Amino acid sequence: MSGLQQRTQFPLGEGEFSTIVRLVREETGIVLSAQKRDLVYGRLAKRLRAMGLSDFSEYCELLESEDGEAERRNMVNAITTNLTGFFREPHHFEFLGDTVLAELKEQASTSRLRIWSAGCSSGEEPYSIAMTVRDKLGAGPNWDAKILATDIDTNMVAHAKAGRYDASRLSTVSAEYRRRFFRKADEGHVVAADDLKELITFNPLNLFDPWPMRGPFNVIFCRNVVIYFSKDDQRSLFARYADFLVPGGWLFVGHSETLYGVSDRFRHLGRTIYQKVS
Ligand SMILES: C[S@@+](CC[C@H](N)C(=O)[O-])C[C@H]1O[C@@H](n2cnc3c(N)ncnc32)[C@H](O)[C@@H]1O
Repeated sequence: MSGLQQRTQFPLGEGEFSTIVRLVREETGIVLSAQKRDLVYGRLAKRLRAMGLSDFSEYCELLESEDGEAERRNMVNAITTNLTGFFREPHHFEFLGDTVLAELKEQASTSRLRIWSAGCSSGEEPYSIAMTVRDKLGAGPNWDAKILATDIDTNMVAHAKAGRYDASRLSTVSAEYRRRFFRKADEGHVVAADDLKELITFNPLNLFDPWPMRGPFNVIFCRNVVIYFSKDDQRSLFARYADFLVPGGWLFVGHSETLYGVSDRFRHLGRTIYQKVS
């Protein structure tokens, strides 16, 4: 089949596109603009092929039916954008090590550390947090340190939990950390050390569902996740983050994200790093 035939194999009408946009919004909070039509087509045509369906109206019917729950999950997994990397936006990890963990170490009254990677994708973010924690707290007293890593995409959570990566993904990890925190697996792959895995709990979680954990967290990473959400959804999400942080707790957002006009419960320390003030 030619590329063009593949792109036009299933006609995607206006009505079906609107149905998919509505369902994605209801399931994930992600707002798909009209410009995302090709992306939606490309990602969901694979689902139609895999199920042997002949057109998008059949697919929409299935999604909206009582038996559609499993396929709605597959649709969410197909639609989410999971781009990530080890030590992406490295200044956040420098700040975590040099400021957050250094300050906590000085507070003799606490040895409890809770960090949440909300929207962790395939795990590079929580493993980068774990490497920083192991490195900076390793020699300290007995820390009760835990990292929670969650994502709506169940395939990504499974990948993150396995901690198995193409070796080329480690190009942004220092040689020292590579030696210390990864071991070679089968040809061309590496696996995160148990020392890192022990620190992290991986769970599927839709950020718009009730949160089963109690918190409070010292730090929340929610980076490159809310860009796809409406301002109203961002407002309610950041209010909940503030409720789940300790007084003075930190929040890291993605390089193109801002809390300006979204939440006044944080002060901006610069470079997409926020601190809870109320
Ligand atoms: C672009 S990735 C960012 C990964 C990582 N935080 C980083 O910055 O490298 C965005 C992630 O947010 C997740 N996501 C999108 N909507 C979500 C929701 N409603 N609840 C939880 N996770 C969501 C996606 O599945 C995806 O893995």
